[in-house]
Amino acid sequence: MVKAPVNTDVSQAGVASPPAHALERDALEHVWIHQTPWVELAERDGMRVFEKGEGIYLYDVRGRKYIDGISGLWVVNAGHGRQEIAEAMAEQARKLSYASASSYTTVPAVELAAKIAEKTPGDLSRVFFSSGGSEAVETAIKIAKQVQAMRGFSRRYKIIARRGSYHGMTHGAMSLTASRNENHFGPFMYGVSHVPHPNRYNSDFGVEGEQADIMAAKYVEQEIIAQGPETVAAVIAEPVSSAAGVHVPSKVYWKMLREICDRHGVLLIADEVINGWGRTGKYFAMEHYGVTPDIMTMAKGLSSGYAPIAATIVRPSVFEVFQNNKEAYLGHLLTFGGHPVAAAAAVKNIEIFEQEQLPERAAEMGDYLMARLEELRAHPTVGDVRGVGLLTGVELVKNKATRESFGRGHKFTDRITQLLDERGLITRVWAVAHIAPPLTVTKDEIDTMVTMLDEALTIAEGEFAGEITS
Ligand SMILES: Cc1ncc(COP(=O)(O)O)c(C=O)c1O
Repeated sequence: MVKAPVNTDVSQAGVASPPAHALERDALEHVWIHQTPWVELAERDGMRVFEKGEGIYLYDVRGRKYIDGISGLWVVNAGHGRQEIAEAMAEQARKLSYASASSYTTVPAVELAAKIAEKTPGDLSRVFFSSGGSEAVETAIKIAKQVQAMRGFSRRYKIIARRGSYHGMTHGAMSLTASRNENHFGPFMYGVSHVPHPNRYNSDFGVEGEQADIMAAKYVEQEIIAQGPETVAAVIAEPVSSAAGVHVPSKVYWKMLREICDRHGVLLIADEVINGWGRTGKYFAMEHYGVTPDIMTMAKGLSSGYAPIAATIVRPSVFEVFQNNKEAYLGHLLTFGGHPVAAAAAVKNIEIFEQEQLPERAAEMGDYLMARLEELRAHPTVGDVRGVGLLTGVELVKNKATRESFGRGHKFTDRITQLLDERGLITRVWAVAHIAPPLTVTKDEIDTMVTMLDEALTIAEGEFAGEITS
């Protein structure tokens, strides 16, 4: 049956010419691109259909070459085009492509679970597999609630998250995500509240430096007390915030969070979906803080994006209620959790991390990247430069004195995105311009990215001079 095409008469959306390549036209007609308005894709010739990746580079169907300045979405930590991962996946698919996840497991899933337990900090040791970060977060929420109930606290169902945070888009995870869209999707999961972010550049408390982190941590305790500790199951936070603007809290913040949670019988969940697997210069960002969470989530860099796989790992103190109860199991089942081909990809990916010492490399290249980004402070719109390892961000502001942000979707930040795209650098520019390339990036490649950003800022600042008051 020939289907009637949707209205891809892009001229109606104000486009001068339709996309040049047949696959771009088909993409516009049939692919539901996540999180970007269709009209925007059509109007700004923003359709990019990629067909090849190599190291930090992506190539689209028109043969254009781009630097992947954000590793997909903080995903491709080992870099694109790793043949050894492709081969490991093919070999596993030939051997065994699936077995039920409800009562069984497979060789690569076991190997992977053991590897994750080895690499994660402290006594984190029991792994529940899923397919993506949102599922890993859903799993963490359910573990926290069920464990609290099995410990005898069935009223402890509330979760405290942070303003500005992103934890995914399935309904439970989205309930924790601060930018959730109440008009379209409310009501959300009951019992979620949001507390201030540790933000030393623009603190909710009007203070600077470590004091901002201390205030943010104290607020968590106040929120637990305000909600009633006997009703709170868990606190969830990224060790270093990523989408929320790359805020790197001081050690004292996480130490305080650990103490506060312990004091009130609340479980501490570290969401390492982006932070994990070398991004911050260590295998896991919590290693910077010397704190072991009760539950930790991971995804993205676990397989460097070669296959969809995620995990939620817990400490023995969390799992013990299941170990001590003959009939107990977690009320949770995901058909593709620990998929053997995805697990084989992750095992090979971790082998590459070990052989090439990618976390150490991220630390070294991250120092270089930060030093280069610091030079951009000379721009009137660069308010702050932050990061750790290869998780970095440049906060763009209208006014350096007031630190007023352009915010997401401002014409200035959109223009920066466009100028970077024209130069061949793909990244995300909202309130913060993110630079987070694969961990294999070289100094020369970092120089190229910083030059592109420098040029884009100079041009956009000239065009928007009237709006910049610094
Ligand atoms: C911290 C964090 N948690 C969870 C998620 C959700 O992951 P996914 O998109 O794989 O579902 C993301 C996605 O970016 C994330 O940044």
